Amino acid sequence: MDEELAKLLMQRAREALGNSYSPYSKLKVGAALLTEDGKIFTGVNVENASYSLTICAERVAVFKAVSEGFRKFKAIAITSDRGKIMPCGACRQVLAEFSPHMKVIVGDKDNFEIYELEELLPHSFNGNIVAPD
Ligand code: THU
Repeated sequence: MDEELAKLLMQRAREALGNSYSPYSKLKVGAALLTEDGKIFTGVNVENASYSLTICAERVAVFKAVSEGFRKFKAIAITSDRGKIMPCGACRQVLAEFSPHMKVIVGDKDNFEIYELEELLPHSFNGNIVAPD
């Protein structure tokens, strides 16, 4: 994928960090999701006093996009205030539901790596068996 576009997404993910609601873990996570149409949706982790109700930044970005009518994604950038983090398994599965061939950009300001989602979630469960065409 285009290096400049990856940089821009990472910058948007980093800008979002300030809105993270993470008083329990104190780890701020930001994500910026690029749709096939070139629109960007950001997300942050939102924690809760009932810990398990926490939602990750990546899923917030995906659910914002889907609820606005966007389901096809090119890439997502993910970052944290403690540098590079990898997306959790639940977020990989949610991303794969919509765009199994998308790119996943991880890192921080000027230092990032780009993966294929398929590398991060090989042999995934998909909807074929529960919702065949
Ligand atoms: N977190 C994310 O937002 N994305 C991930 O991929 C991994 C974890 C958040 C959830 C929680 O608020 C904090 O990081 C610590 O687990």
